[in-house]
Amino acid sequence: MHFFSTVKPGEIITRLTSDAEGIRSVFSGTIVSILQNVLILLSTALALFSMNWQLALVGMFVIPSFIFPTRKVGKVRWRIAAETQKKAAELNELIQETLSISGSTLIKIFTKEKTAYENFAKVNREVTALHIKESLAGRWFRMVVQIFTSIGPLIIYFYGGYLFIKDEITIGAIIAFVTMLNRLYGPVSRLSNIHIDVTRSLALFERIFDYLDMKHEITEAPNAFPLPPLKGRVEFKNVSFAYTDRQETLKKVSFSVEPGQMVALVGPSGAGKTTITNLIPRLYDVTAGQILIDGIDLRAVTLESLRSQIGIVMQDPYIFNGTIRQNLLFAKPDATEAELVAACQAAYLHEFIQTLPEGYDTLVGNRGIKLSGGEKQRLSLAQMILKEPRIIILDEATSALDSVSEALIQKALAPLLKTRTSFVIAHRLSTIIAADLILVINHGEVVEAGKHEELLQANTLYKELYDKQFKTGQKFQFGVPGREETAEAEEL
Ligand SMILES: Nc1ncnc2c1ncn2[C@@H]1O[C@H](COP(=O)(O)OP(=O)(O)OP(=O)(O)O)[C@@H](O)[C@H]1O
Ligand SMILES: [Mg+2]
Repeated sequence: MHFFSTVKPGEIITRLTSDAEGIRSVFSGTIVSILQNVLILLSTALALFSMNWQLALVGMFVIPSFIFPTRKVGKVRWRIAAETQKKAAELNELIQETLSISGSTLIKIFTKEKTAYENFAKVNREVTALHIKESLAGRWFRMVVQIFTSIGPLIIYFYGGYLFIKDEITIGAIIAFVTMLNRLYGPVSRLSNIHIDVTRSLALFERIFDYLDMKHEITEAPNAFPLPPLKGRVEFKNVSFAYTDRQETLKKVSFSVEPGQMVALVGPSGAGKTTITNLIPRLYDVTAGQILIDGIDLRAVTLESLRSQIGIVMQDPYIFNGTIRQNLLFAKPDATEAELVAACQAAYLHEFIQTLPEGYDTLVGNRGIKLSGGEKQRLSLAQMILKEPRIIILDEATSALDSVSEALIQKALAPLLKTRTSFVIAHRLSTIIAADLILVINHGEVVEAGKHEELLQANTLYKELYDKQFKTGQKFQFGVPGREETAEAEEL
């Protein structure tokens, strides 16, 4: 979670696609090419030495001058390649952000099209410049190689001429020798180019291995065992948690919930409610303290057995771009049609789906953009119902619904919630009163805990929240009038 909340998706995509592709292009064919060139090199060298070993030595004399600079050129290209890929990642990131549905909406609202265009053009230019720089980086090297491939024959003619005067060699032999020599330089220069390409690709390797070597933050204990089917007792023991080193988000949170109970988490925005619920499926690990489910520490069991028994409807549900059916099946791949319909009926979504021309096969668009906020929440609820978890977490799961549909959903969820432990973050009085335990969270601490009546009498933060927020069904944090609880909803 830390990784995904900090690393930009463009960076991840560049490493997985363009870096990997760069390595592939160097290595496909490289081995064949190395073998080919080494064979030509050896056979030619053999032929040269058998013709005239003195001339052969002279001809070989220039070869080191091909080879020495390859290391340097390789290093330079390594450095530039790393820089280029970093820039390319930036470009990908920009495309991702500006051309996504949320990004482009934001750009339109703030009329930032021009800035977005300029940003793109700028990074694009930088990537281009780096690519050019990289391909120019080896130019002087190739020039040097070419000079030496001309100098080699020159020396042979010179020394060969001397041997000819001494009557030790024929002109024909000198010509044959120079022709063969070119066959020797070719493979040497190709091999040194391969060396450069391979060195450059190390930059890409480094970027890919960065990720491959990364340690998983949340790991299973070596002796982790599957969590047996849950009864649903949840206990937080002095749980502290920090997203970063700088600040503790949760401080010594302790409470316990019996199977089947409903806990309401209330408190001002940013108090740590969502954070508490994120710790239960081990999306993050506690920094201190312990969370026990049915008396077992979360860290002792396998992640799959834990997470498969927990259902969450998030504050800001994410829906894949696909059909409604695909999104539902994501929660339970083997669900029957009847199960899908039942779940959607309980989530109060079935009727809406019926009105769509393509029904359950309607595409929902990127991030579910074609659905309203409330419809997305209901789809997310239907997913949770299909999953049939033993522990249920509802994070403002019905906040985007009108009071009537919310009340209908609550009614439909009631049998599900009755037999399961649930954590509900809500701002509506009806939900909070129904809870077996209310935890008032403030600045990452449980400041009050109890039932509605008890807390109300204590006349502290809960009372304040109650007066300002729950009583009227208004959102406390915004301080603006919200929807009133309708008489109909209250009745339900
Ligand atoms: N991924 C994260 N990295 C760093 N800090 C975070 C992260 N998520 C939340 N926080 C911080 O942790 C604190 C608690 O956040 P949390 O989401 O738990 O609040 P909340 O009680 O659910 O609020 P709200 O009612 O607005 O949803 C906030 O101050 C928030 O800025
Ligand atoms: Mg929250």
